[in-house]
Amino acid sequence: MNPSHPDKRATPIDYDRIAPDYDTHRQGRGPYFGELLRLARAADAERVLELGAGTGNNTAPFLEDLPCRLVALDRSRGMLARHAAKGIPATRVNASAVALPFADGAFDFLFATYMLHHIGDLDALARECHRVLDGGTAAFVTVSHDFIRRHPMNAWFPSFAAVDCARFQDIPAIEAALRRAGFAEVHATDVESPPRPIDADYVGRVADRFISTYDLLPPEEFAEGVARLRAEVAKHGALPNPIVREATVVYAQA
Ligand SMILES: C[S@@+](CC[C@H](N)C(=O)[O-])C[C@H]1O[C@@H](n2cnc3c(N)ncnc32)[C@H](O)[C@@H]1O
Repeated sequence: MNPSHPDKRATPIDYDRIAPDYDTHRQGRGPYFGELLRLARAADAERVLELGAGTGNNTAPFLEDLPCRLVALDRSRGMLARHAAKGIPATRVNASAVALPFADGAFDFLFATYMLHHIGDLDALARECHRVLDGGTAAFVTVSHDFIRRHPMNAWFPSFAAVDCARFQDIPAIEAALRRAGFAEVHATDVESPPRPIDADYVGRVADRFISTYDLLPPEEFAEGVARLRAEVAKHGALPNPIVREATVVYAQA
């Protein structure tokens, strides 16, 4: 992490470059989605801010299930261009989440899915979120170090946990930053997807680097891990245990 950049961790992911293909492997409505809706409804969310909205994979279903005035903010113009191309009825804003171009108390709910790990200064982010909320709720979807360490791909890629633990803040650090910014009632809820087999289809997604972790592994380790995994899956059609994807929703009251 480069501490001189408040909003940029040392992650070489150029979202403008990957925007056109982003939706090939990434969808919204993950296992966290019901929890986001529950929190938004409890906050009587009418003015909603989504941070790191990307191509809108969660903006669109959120608006379908909970019609509201939604501002979709992202630092990447390329990701917002994809968002716009889908015709999602939100206001798009190209800005950084650590310097929000909104008045104090402009929103009653804000959420972010898989954006937090790009933030170098969690305190700056938490302060901005607290400032723009009008006594409402903030909710952040991320992955815990516990899940990263238990992830089945650790068996095939020895650096998997080291790479992801270095870039995803652990849950207690996020909770502490929210409290320091003045948030109360800080909680974290773990959610999980139905099990899915680690079969040839899954191996294909890994080989296509469907999550950015695979871009960050040493190239030889990645190539060797994919080859070993593919060979093992070919023997039996799938690994003995399926994968259960986990996410953590950290939320708090402003
Ligand atoms: C992994 S993508 C997630 C996109 C979307 N939330 C989703 O779940 O599909 C992370 C997004 O966060 C955006 N992002 C990263 N740092 C940001 C920042 N400081 N402010 C606003 N957006 C940021 C990236 O441009 C990218 O669109």
